[in-house]
Amino acid sequence: MGNAFAEIAFTQGVRELQIQAGSRERYAAMDQSANRRDKLTERETTFIESRDHFFQASVSETGWPYVQHRGGPAGFLKVLDERTLGFADYRGNVQYVSVGNLSHDNRVALILMDYANQRRLKLLGRVRFIDRDTEPDLIERLVTPGYKAIVERGFIISVEAFDWNCPQHITPRFTLAEIDEMTAPLRAQLRRNE
Ligand SMILES: Cc1cc2nc3c(=O)[nH]c(=O)nc-3n(C[C@H](O)[C@H](O)[C@H](O)COP(=O)(O)O)c2cc1C
Repeated sequence: MGNAFAEIAFTQGVRELQIQAGSRERYAAMDQSANRRDKLTERETTFIESRDHFFQASVSETGWPYVQHRGGPAGFLKVLDERTLGFADYRGNVQYVSVGNLSHDNRVALILMDYANQRRLKLLGRVRFIDRDTEPDLIERLVTPGYKAIVERGFIISVEAFDWNCPQHITPRFTLAEIDEMTAPLRAQLRRNE
C-alpha cells in the first residue's frame, strides 16, 4: 500500500529536498497511507466530467517537457471507469507533438482547473491510442455528438495516480456561462422593475 501519487512523484531527489526543508515528516504518512487513491471516486468523476479544458504534459524523446492545452465542450474528457479516462483527438494543427511524444513514452500528466471554485486536480497516467478501425464503439463513446471535425484518434488514459492541490493562489475566474447563471436573478429583478 501507500499513496500512488507519492510513489511516482516523490523521487529520491524530491525526498532529499523534503528532508532538507523539514517537510518529509508531513509527507511520510502518504507513503504508508492505506488509501492508495489511484481509483477515481464520485468526487473526481463529477469534477473531471464538468471540465471544459485541461493541460496535458508529455516528455519528448530528447527529454524536454511539453505542455499542451486541450479544450472542448464541458464533459469532453470522459471517465470510462474508475481507472480510465478518454477523449477524442480531432484534427488540429497537425504538428503531432503530444502524439509523437506519447508514442515514444506513454506517460502523461494532466492538470484540471476549476477557477470559479478554486480547485485543481492533477492526474498521472499512461496513454494508448485507439482508432475507428480497431475500436469503433469506444471512439463513439468519446466523440461529441454533432461536432463535425475529423477524429484522428482516441486518447485512452489509464490513471495511475491523482492528487488534489490546495486552492491557494488560484485566482477566481468565471466563464461567460457561469457569469450568465450568476447574474440571471439580477436580470430577472430588472425585468420586474421595468
Ligand atoms: C482548426 C483547429 C481546431 C482545433 N480544435 C481543437 C479543439 O477542439 N480542442 C483542442 O484541445 N485543440 C484543438 N486544436 C489544437 C490542436 O488540435 C492541436 O493540434 C492539438 O492540441 C495537438 O497539439 P500538439 O501537436 O502541440 O500536441 C485545434 C487546432 C486547429 C488548427
